[in-house]
Amino acid sequence: MGRNIFSHATISESLSREKFGHPLYFYRSIDSTNNEAKILASKGAPEGTLVVADEQTAGRGRFNRRWFTPRGSGLAVSLILRSKLSKDHISHISILGSLATVYAIEHLCNASLKLKWPNDIWINQTKVAGVLVEISYNIEVPEWLVLGIGINVNAKPSELTNSSYPVSFLANITGHKVDRVNLLQQLVRNVGILYNQLGENSIIEKWEERMLWKGQHVAVIDSGNNATEGIVLGLSPNGSLLIQLPNGKKSEIYSGEIRLI
Ligand code: BTN
Repeated sequence: MGRNIFSHATISESLSREKFGHPLYFYRSIDSTNNEAKILASKGAPEGTLVVADEQTAGRGRFNRRWFTPRGSGLAVSLILRSKLSKDHISHISILGSLATVYAIEHLCNASLKLKWPNDIWINQTKVAGVLVEISYNIEVPEWLVLGIGINVNAKPSELTNSSYPVSFLANITGHKVDRVNLLQQLVRNVGILYNQLGENSIIEKWEERMLWKGQHVAVIDSGNNATEGIVLGLSPNGSLLIQLPNGKKSEIYSGEIRLI
Protein backbone atom coordinates (compact mmCIF):
# COMPACT_ATOMS: atom_id res chain seq x y z
CA MET A 1 0.00 0.00 0.00
CA GLY A 2 1.13 3.57 -0.65
CA ARG A 3 3.64 2.43 -3.29
CA ASN A 4 2.66 4.54 -6.29
CA ILE A 5 4.04 8.04 -6.62
CA PHE A 6 1.14 10.44 -7.17
CA SER A 7 2.03 11.90 -10.56
CA HIS A 8 0.70 12.45 -14.07
CA ALA A 9 2.64 9.41 -15.32
CA THR A 10 1.37 6.93 -12.72
CA ILE A 11 -2.23 8.15 -12.86
CA SER A 12 -2.32 8.20 -16.64
CA GLU A 13 -0.88 4.65 -16.79
CA SER A 14 -3.44 3.37 -14.26
CA LEU A 15 -6.32 4.89 -16.27
CA SER A 16 -5.12 3.75 -19.69
CA ARG A 17 -7.82 1.09 -20.03
CA GLU A 18 -10.66 3.04 -18.38
CA LYS A 19 -13.59 4.65 -20.21
CA PHE A 20 -12.98 8.04 -18.54
CA GLY A 21 -9.87 9.94 -17.46
CA HIS A 22 -8.67 11.11 -20.89
CA PRO A 23 -7.26 13.65 -21.38
CA LEU A 24 -5.74 13.92 -17.92
CA TYR A 25 -4.69 17.24 -16.36
CA PHE A 26 -2.53 16.86 -13.27
CA TYR A 27 -1.53 19.74 -10.98
CA ARG A 28 0.80 19.73 -7.98
CA SER A 29 -1.22 22.68 -6.67
CA ILE A 30 -4.30 24.46 -7.98
CA ASP A 31 -7.06 26.64 -6.54
CA SER A 32 -9.88 24.16 -7.26
CA THR A 33 -10.06 21.24 -9.69
CA ASN A 34 -13.73 22.12 -10.27
CA ASN A 35 -12.76 25.66 -11.32
CA GLU A 36 -10.22 24.28 -13.78
CA ALA A 37 -12.63 21.65 -15.14
CA LYS A 38 -15.30 24.33 -15.68
CA ILE A 39 -12.85 26.44 -17.71
CA LEU A 40 -11.84 23.40 -19.78
CA ALA A 41 -15.47 22.35 -20.29
CA SER A 42 -16.50 25.80 -21.44
CA LYS A 43 -13.65 25.68 -23.99
CA GLY A 44 -15.02 22.39 -25.36
CA ALA A 45 -13.01 19.73 -23.50
CA PRO A 46 -14.47 16.28 -24.26
CA GLU A 47 -16.46 14.03 -21.96
CA GLY A 48 -14.05 12.04 -19.81
CA THR A 49 -11.56 14.87 -19.28
CA LEU A 50 -10.16 14.51 -15.76
CA VAL A 51 -8.55 17.18 -13.59
CA VAL A 52 -6.54 15.94 -10.59
CA ALA A 53 -4.59 17.95 -8.03
CA ASP A 54 -2.23 16.96 -5.23
CA GLU A 55 -3.17 20.15 -3.37
CA GLN A 56 -6.10 22.58 -3.61
CA THR A 57 -5.69 26.09 -2.24
CA ALA A 58 -9.34 27.14 -2.65
CA GLY A 59 -11.30 23.90 -2.87
CA ARG A 60 -15.05 24.36 -2.64
CA GLY A 61 -17.84 22.32 -1.10
CA ARG A 62 -21.62 22.58 -1.12
CA PHE A 63 -23.20 25.79 0.17
CA ASN A 64 -19.95 27.61 -0.76
CA ARG A 65 -18.08 25.99 2.09
CA ARG A 66 -14.32 25.51 1.87
CA TRP A 67 -12.95 22.04 1.14
CA PHE A 68 -9.37 21.43 2.26
CA THR A 69 -6.95 19.24 0.31
CA PRO A 70 -3.50 19.75 1.81
CA ARG A 71 -0.52 18.55 -0.28
CA GLY A 72 -0.04 14.77 -0.34
CA SER A 73 -3.07 14.01 1.78
CA GLY A 74 -6.16 13.36 -0.29
CA LEU A 75 -7.90 13.04 -3.62
CA ALA A 76 -9.28 16.14 -5.34
CA VAL A 77 -10.66 15.27 -8.75
CA SER A 78 -13.10 16.73 -11.27
CA LEU A 79 -14.47 14.85 -14.24
CA ILE A 80 -16.14 16.51 -17.22
CA LEU A 81 -19.31 14.76 -18.40
CA ARG A 82 -21.62 15.67 -21.26
CA SER A 83 -24.67 13.56 -20.45
CA LYS A 84 -27.96 14.91 -21.81
CA LEU A 85 -29.89 13.96 -18.67
CA SER A 86 -33.29 15.56 -18.22
CA LYS A 87 -33.74 18.04 -15.35
CA ASP A 88 -35.79 15.36 -13.54
CA HIS A 89 -32.77 13.09 -13.35
CA ILE A 90 -30.00 15.65 -12.97
CA SER A 91 -29.27 14.69 -9.36
CA HIS A 92 -28.35 11.19 -10.62
CA ILE A 93 -24.91 12.66 -11.39
CA SER A 94 -24.11 13.35 -7.73
CA ILE A 95 -25.74 10.03 -6.80
CA LEU A 96 -23.41 8.34 -9.28
CA GLY A 97 -20.41 10.23 -7.86
CA SER A 98 -21.11 9.31 -4.26
CA LEU A 99 -21.82 5.64 -5.08
CA ALA A 100 -18.65 5.38 -7.21
CA THR A 101 -16.70 6.81 -4.26
CA VAL A 102 -18.23 4.33 -1.79
CA TYR A 103 -17.41 1.35 -4.03
CA ALA A 104 -13.84 2.58 -4.65
CA ILE A 105 -13.13 3.03 -0.94
CA GLU A 106 -14.67 -0.34 -0.08
CA HIS A 107 -12.54 -2.01 -2.75
CA LEU A 108 -9.33 -0.84 -1.06
CA CYS A 109 -10.28 -0.47 2.61
CA ASN A 110 -11.96 -2.93 4.90
CA ALA A 111 -14.80 -0.60 5.86
CA SER A 112 -18.52 -0.32 5.45
CA LEU A 113 -19.69 3.05 4.19
CA LYS A 114 -22.90 5.02 4.43
CA LEU A 115 -24.32 7.87 2.37
CA LYS A 116 -25.74 10.94 4.03
CA TRP A 117 -28.22 12.71 1.77
CA PRO A 118 -27.59 14.30 -0.61
CA ASN A 119 -24.01 13.14 -1.21
CA ASP A 120 -21.73 12.92 1.83
CA ILE A 121 -19.70 9.75 2.29
CA TRP A 122 -19.50 8.56 5.89
CA ILE A 123 -17.57 5.87 7.75
CA ASN A 124 -18.16 5.19 11.45
CA GLN A 125 -20.22 8.37 12.01
CA THR A 126 -17.61 10.61 10.35
CA LYS A 127 -17.45 12.27 6.94
CA VAL A 128 -14.54 11.15 4.74
CA ALA A 129 -15.58 12.38 1.30
CA GLY A 130 -17.96 14.73 -0.52
CA VAL A 131 -19.27 15.45 -4.00
CA LEU A 132 -19.87 18.78 -5.74
CA VAL A 133 -21.59 18.81 -9.15
CA GLU A 134 -21.62 21.98 -11.27
CA ILE A 135 -23.63 22.23 -14.47
CA SER A 136 -23.88 24.58 -17.45
CA TYR A 137 -27.24 24.43 -19.24
CA ASN A 138 -28.06 25.10 -22.84
CA ILE A 139 -31.75 25.96 -22.39
CA GLU A 140 -33.14 22.83 -20.59
CA VAL A 141 -30.34 20.40 -21.47
CA PRO A 142 -26.92 20.23 -19.80
CA GLU A 143 -24.11 21.38 -22.07
CA TRP A 144 -21.52 20.06 -19.62
CA LEU A 145 -21.38 18.76 -16.06
CA VAL A 146 -18.40 18.79 -13.72
CA LEU A 147 -18.41 15.96 -11.19
CA GLY A 148 -16.07 17.02 -8.37
CA ILE A 149 -15.07 14.51 -5.71
CA GLY A 150 -12.92 15.10 -2.64
CA ILE A 151 -11.69 12.27 -0.38
CA ASN A 152 -9.67 12.66 2.83
CA VAL A 153 -7.19 9.81 2.33
CA ASN A 154 -3.99 9.86 4.35
CA ALA A 155 -4.42 12.86 6.63
CA LYS A 156 -7.20 14.84 8.20
CA PRO A 157 -7.51 18.31 6.69
CA SER A 158 -5.78 20.67 9.11
CA GLU A 159 -8.72 23.06 8.90
CA LEU A 160 -12.21 21.65 9.08
CA THR A 161 -14.71 22.15 6.28
CA ASN A 162 -17.67 22.40 8.61
CA SER A 163 -17.83 21.96 12.33
CA SER A 164 -21.40 20.58 12.35
CA TYR A 165 -20.19 16.99 11.85
CA PRO A 166 -17.00 15.07 12.61
CA VAL A 167 -14.46 14.65 9.80
CA SER A 168 -12.08 11.74 9.35
CA PHE A 169 -9.70 10.20 6.77
CA LEU A 170 -9.27 6.71 5.34
CA ALA A 171 -5.86 5.85 6.86
CA ASN A 172 -7.30 6.58 10.28
CA ILE A 173 -9.98 3.94 9.70
CA THR A 174 -7.82 1.30 7.99
CA GLY A 175 -4.68 1.81 10.09
CA HIS A 176 -2.51 2.02 6.97
CA LYS A 177 -1.80 4.48 4.15
CA VAL A 178 -4.04 4.12 1.12
CA ASP A 179 -2.57 4.29 -2.40
CA ARG A 180 -4.16 7.33 -4.02
CA VAL A 181 -3.39 6.18 -7.56
CA ASN A 182 -5.23 2.88 -6.99
CA LEU A 183 -8.10 4.65 -5.27
CA LEU A 184 -8.45 7.09 -8.17
CA GLN A 185 -8.38 4.26 -10.70
CA GLN A 186 -11.20 2.45 -8.87
CA LEU A 187 -13.17 5.67 -8.65
CA VAL A 188 -12.89 6.43 -12.36
CA ARG A 189 -13.70 2.80 -13.24
CA ASN A 190 -16.85 2.88 -11.09
CA VAL A 191 -18.01 6.16 -12.64
CA GLY A 192 -17.65 4.50 -16.06
CA ILE A 193 -19.70 1.47 -14.98
CA LEU A 194 -22.45 3.42 -13.20
CA TYR A 195 -22.69 5.95 -16.04
CA ASN A 196 -24.84 3.49 -17.99
CA GLN A 197 -27.43 3.53 -15.18
CA LEU A 198 -28.03 7.29 -15.20
CA GLY A 199 -31.76 7.99 -15.43
CA GLU A 200 -32.66 4.50 -14.16
CA ASN A 201 -34.13 3.54 -10.83
CA SER A 202 -31.37 0.96 -10.19
CA ILE A 203 -28.91 3.72 -9.27
CA ILE A 204 -31.42 5.14 -6.76
CA GLU A 205 -31.95 1.68 -5.23
CA LYS A 206 -28.18 1.15 -4.86
CA TRP A 207 -27.85 4.53 -3.14
CA GLU A 208 -30.78 3.80 -0.81
CA GLU A 209 -29.10 0.57 0.35
CA ARG A 210 -26.38 2.79 1.87
CA MET A 211 -28.63 5.53 3.16
CA LEU A 212 -27.67 6.90 6.57
CA TRP A 213 -30.50 7.41 9.08
CA LYS A 214 -33.20 5.64 7.01
CA GLY A 215 -36.24 5.20 9.27
CA GLN A 216 -34.87 7.69 11.79
CA HIS A 217 -36.18 11.03 12.96
CA VAL A 218 -34.27 13.94 11.38
CA ALA A 219 -34.41 17.66 10.76
CA VAL A 220 -33.61 18.98 7.29
CA ILE A 221 -32.22 22.51 7.35
CA ASP A 222 -32.63 24.58 4.18
CA SER A 223 -30.40 27.43 2.97
CA GLY A 224 -32.60 29.93 4.85
CA ASN A 225 -31.98 27.95 8.08
CA ASN A 226 -35.58 26.67 8.22
CA ALA A 227 -35.96 23.14 9.61
CA THR A 228 -38.39 20.46 8.41
CA GLU A 229 -38.70 17.50 10.78
CA GLY A 230 -39.73 13.98 9.88
CA ILE A 231 -38.79 10.32 9.45
CA VAL A 232 -36.47 9.44 6.57
CA LEU A 233 -38.32 7.19 4.08
CA GLY A 234 -35.78 7.08 1.25
CA LEU A 235 -35.11 8.72 -2.11
CA SER A 236 -37.60 9.56 -4.83
CA PRO A 237 -36.74 8.52 -8.43
CA ASN A 238 -35.36 12.03 -9.04
CA GLY A 239 -33.02 11.85 -6.04
CA SER A 240 -34.96 14.12 -3.71
CA LEU A 241 -35.30 13.14 -0.04
CA LEU A 242 -38.59 11.56 1.02
CA ILE A 243 -39.62 12.15 4.60
CA GLN A 244 -42.77 11.48 6.58
CA LEU A 245 -43.94 14.63 8.34
CA PRO A 246 -45.32 14.56 11.92
CA ASN A 247 -48.87 14.81 10.41
CA GLY A 248 -48.27 11.55 8.52
CA LYS A 249 -48.00 13.16 5.07
CA LYS A 250 -45.04 12.49 2.78
CA SER A 251 -42.82 15.37 1.72
CA GLU A 252 -40.14 15.61 -0.98
CA ILE A 253 -37.13 17.78 -0.15
CA TYR A 254 -34.83 18.95 -2.94
CA SER A 255 -31.96 20.56 -1.03
CA GLY A 256 -30.72 21.04 2.48
CA GLU A 257 -28.68 19.43 5.21
CA ILE A 258 -29.92 16.52 7.34
CA ARG A 259 -29.32 16.36 11.11
CA LEU A 260 -30.29 13.53 13.40
CA ILE A 261 -32.60 14.67 16.21
C1 BTN B 1 -19.00 18.78 0.01
O1 BTN B 1 -19.00 17.80 0.75
O2 BTN B 1 -19.45 19.87 0.39
C2 BTN B 1 -18.45 18.63 -1.38
C3 BTN B 1 -16.95 18.64 -1.41
C4 BTN B 1 -16.39 18.52 -2.81
C5 BTN B 1 -14.90 18.76 -2.86
C6 BTN B 1 -14.30 18.45 -4.20
S1 BTN B 1 -12.55 18.33 -4.14
C7 BTN B 1 -12.48 18.28 -5.87
C8 BTN B 1 -13.47 19.30 -6.39
N1 BTN B 1 -12.90 20.62 -6.42
C9 BTN B 1 -13.49 21.45 -5.58
O3 BTN B 1 -13.19 22.65 -5.41
N2 BTN B 1 -14.47 20.82 -4.91
C10 BTN B 1 -14.59 19.43 -5.33
